[in-house]
Amino acid sequence: DAGTAEKGGYPHFMLKEIHEEPDAVRRCLSPRIRNGHIELNISGLPDEALAKTERIHIVACGTAMHAGLVGRYAIESLARVPVEVDIASEFRYRNPILGKNDLVVLISQSGETADTLAALRLAKEHGIRTLAIVNVPGSSIAREADDVLYTWAGPEIAVASTKAYLVQLAVLYLVAVKLASLHETLSAKEESALCKELLEIPEKIQEAVESEPAVLECAQKLKDAQHVFFIGRGVDYTLCMESSLKLKEVSYIHCEAYAAGELKHGTISLIEQGTPVIAVATQPALYPKTVSNLEEVKARGADVMLVCGKDANVEADLAANVLRVPNVHDVLAPMAAIVPLQLLAYHIAVLRGCDVDKPRNLAKSVTVE
Ligand code: G6P
Repeated sequence: DAGTAEKGGYPHFMLKEIHEEPDAVRRCLSPRIRNGHIELNISGLPDEALAKTERIHIVACGTAMHAGLVGRYAIESLARVPVEVDIASEFRYRNPILGKNDLVVLISQSGETADTLAALRLAKEHGIRTLAIVNVPGSSIAREADDVLYTWAGPEIAVASTKAYLVQLAVLYLVAVKLASLHETLSAKEESALCKELLEIPEKIQEAVESEPAVLECAQKLKDAQHVFFIGRGVDYTLCMESSLKLKEVSYIHCEAYAAGELKHGTISLIEQGTPVIAVATQPALYPKTVSNLEEVKARGADVMLVCGKDANVEADLAANVLRVPNVHDVLAPMAAIVPLQLLAYHIAVLRGCDVDKPRNLAKSVTVE
């Protein structure tokens, strides 16, 4: 039917858009990587100005804010430039401390979110340089920001954002590597190695998209859950936040994302026999720590699912289900690891008969405060 044709043969826009991720990320990255260097081509923000950046404030809402959290890990670890991440509706009313060499980065798929736009205007009133990472060309945030980096993902129709998050991450990685090269925290050799890894990311995302059968098996198991807990450490915690948001948005299952080390300070009291817990553990350095938290919840009866790298050495009885993600550089791992988690949210929602592309009470773009 016409509806299916519009969706490129997929039953829902959300699934179509997840399948578009490899191409969207390729379109976003490849024109900006040349001979082992990042070329952002931001007209108003030349390298000399970017090199002076002392602090970055990332401001956004929803999924775009979660992309910003990944960006913080990438920028701080690669470039050693301090980054703060704010929810736009908080930033605008907390009288933020902004320095003259700071950069305010607004992230928005639509470019029309009222709170993000207000945060942008606030930064401009303070005379602070603003850079927007936006998907929709010519949108308000793109027009009003001093500079724009477009994410070039094409239209995103499903209310729950998927491919837009991936390209937001892609742009944030470009900014991180660029800043690292300008601040000389990465050698030319390391920069070119990371560029090579970035160019290979679309294939890794494709590989992750193809893990759908294993995801479907997990979705079957979780479809009647009343609560789902996501735990992880470091950047994996931010993936937990995004996965939890995605699952609650489309399936209406109550979800919580917790920093794994924080569990014992509260949430563990909610774990009972059969409570589903999904652990995200893509970072080898933190893997043993997250595993020990998994053991704590398992001891209280949790039904454990683990998302980890292809090569992680997973003990036989640690998790009932293991979703393996393609091998990528640790810093870039979120781009591959989020994909099965997006697919999981999608399939659970479908199995529960939810209106996947238009969840109740939600809007694609929130243009009023
Ligand atoms: C709405 C959408 C979310 C989105 C958020 C920010 O809540 O439902 O999917 O992440 O707005 O939107 P933006 O267009 O600014 O990225």
